[in-house]
Amino acid sequence: MTTDHRATPRPLVEWADALESTIAHCTHWTSVVVLRETASTQDHARRFPIGSVVIAGRQTAGRGRVGREWIDTGEDGLAISMNTPVQCGERLALLCAIAAAEAIEEVCRAASGASPSVRLKWPNDLLISGRKAGGVLIEQDQTMATIGVGINCSQRAFPSSLASRATSLQLQGFSIDRLNIARALLERLDRWIIQTDESIENGFAARDGLVGTSTCFRTPTGLVEGIVLRIDPLQGVVVRTSRGDQHLSSATTSVFVPEDRG
Ligand code: BTN
Repeated sequence: MTTDHRATPRPLVEWADALESTIAHCTHWTSVVVLRETASTQDHARRFPIGSVVIAGRQTAGRGRVGREWIDTGEDGLAISMNTPVQCGERLALLCAIAAAEAIEEVCRAASGASPSVRLKWPNDLLISGRKAGGVLIEQDQTMATIGVGINCSQRAFPSSLASRATSLQLQGFSIDRLNIARALLERLDRWIIQTDESIENGFAARDGLVGTSTCFRTPTGLVEGIVLRIDPLQGVVVRTSRGDQHLSSATTSVFVPEDRG
């Protein structure tokens, strides 16, 4: 592990060198672009080839899954996108979420001796104490997948519309440098990306809270309700409904929360 876990945030001018030294030990990342500010690292990353990493000091118009917004990170959130060869989106969503969860726990533990327990809500939510601390967005074309990860690091408050659902590492008692999360994430992702489907399924299951529950999902064809049987790294969530077992894709499905209705 090469990551420096000092909690004092390093200035943006030092990010490129630090990240270059991290990717020197990785197989999948070949170049790093550090931006002071951008609208969305996902859009910026699409200009670069496979292996590129794009990270922003501030992201002003990030996007989440299924057309959702990702709020302005200010100087507090991690916004990073990474280009890899196209692969099964279900698998990629799960392995990225695991890697992000591990990166958060590793950096918090190194900084403070304690670590939050990061749980995963299929397909892409990183939860701490039941609140969203980060998310993963997978966007693919014919040849390239762009993985976007957003993590709430140093925010001390959120807009009232999010306050009851969002959290940050700072609000959970962890003062960390978001650069360190980025470095740990790149290393963890580099390893998870080549893991077997079985390891990914097990890694996700160890942090998942959905399997075995009765859950309602929002899908393009309406709400689907049933008992979650498993989360399959190739086929999405498998739900036992009154009309038989259904596989729901992470690309188009979300766990239904009543306040989302309409
Ligand atoms: C979600 O929870 O729906 C996914 C959020 C993904 C946000 C990240 S921040 C970096 C990258 N750039 C974006 O515009 N979105 C992703």
